[in-house]
Amino acid sequence: MRDKPLVALAIVVVLAAIAVGYAVGRRKAPPPPSPAAETTTAYSPADNAGAPPASGQIDAIRRGIPVDQEGEPPLMARVENTDVKRNRAYPMQPPTIPHSIDNYQIDRNSNRCLLCHARANADKFQAPPVSVTHYMDRDDQFLATISPRRYFCNQCHVVQTDAKPLVANNFKDIDTILSGQIDQPQQKAN
Ligand code: HEC
Ligand code: HEC
Repeated sequence: MRDKPLVALAIVVVLAAIAVGYAVGRRKAPPPPSPAAETTTAYSPADNAGAPPASGQIDAIRRGIPVDQEGEPPLMARVENTDVKRNRAYPMQPPTIPHSIDNYQIDRNSNRCLLCHARANADKFQAPPVSVTHYMDRDDQFLATISPRRYFCNQCHVVQTDAKPLVANNFKDIDTILSGQIDQPQQKAN
């Protein structure tokens, strides 16, 4: 074949053209953002004037404030120190704490909660002693002292505050559900 060198040259030229085109294309992308586009997407305080619908919010805890703006933090909730116990929503719910726990230290050396709530001291302080589950290890063996996995009380028990719920909740406890089931057949019989 006489044209062999010509064909080889053509291939080299085509490959070079592709390489140059690729390099130029890469340098061009990504296009610099135009200042006009930026100003149109930015929020102005006026955008937030009307109360946005709470239902469309991704995160209700933001209370309708756009993600790129910082809202006023709500006031700190007040801890109720009334000694009035709240109902438990289900039998194994850790009861909420009906007294304040300010400065109650819990660390390696001391556990202030157990001063009153350990079985041995409960009578002196008229506190309900921790239940037997607090003395059980993960294999359900009963220990002489509080189980290490129940040592840090605040892991499960929280103080009662006057905070309003941040998101709607239609939880029904088992007694409400059971009473509904008992009612239904009676209504059908009528
Ligand atoms: C000075 C004693 C004392 C200390 C310390 C104490 N408590 Fe209490 N606690 C009580 C008493 C008394 C009650 C019974 C209700 C009342 O009078 O407030 C109670 C009630 C409770 C209840 C409610 C139990 C139920 O059946 O509803 C929980 C939960 C609780 N405390 C957790 C804690 C935790 C957690 C700590 C440590 C952060 C703690 N307590 C520290 C005395 C104490
Ligand atoms: C791993 C979670 C967890 C930890 C940690 C924990 N508790 Fe509890 N607690 C519970 C649950 C769940 C209940 C209710 C069911 C039960 O009695 O086991 C309860 C019940 C109680 C009760 C009511 C007992 C009764 O008979 O009504 C008291 C008082 C209590 N806890 C105090 C404490 C104290 C004080 C500590 C820290 C030493 C503590 N708890 C650590 C989960 C926990």
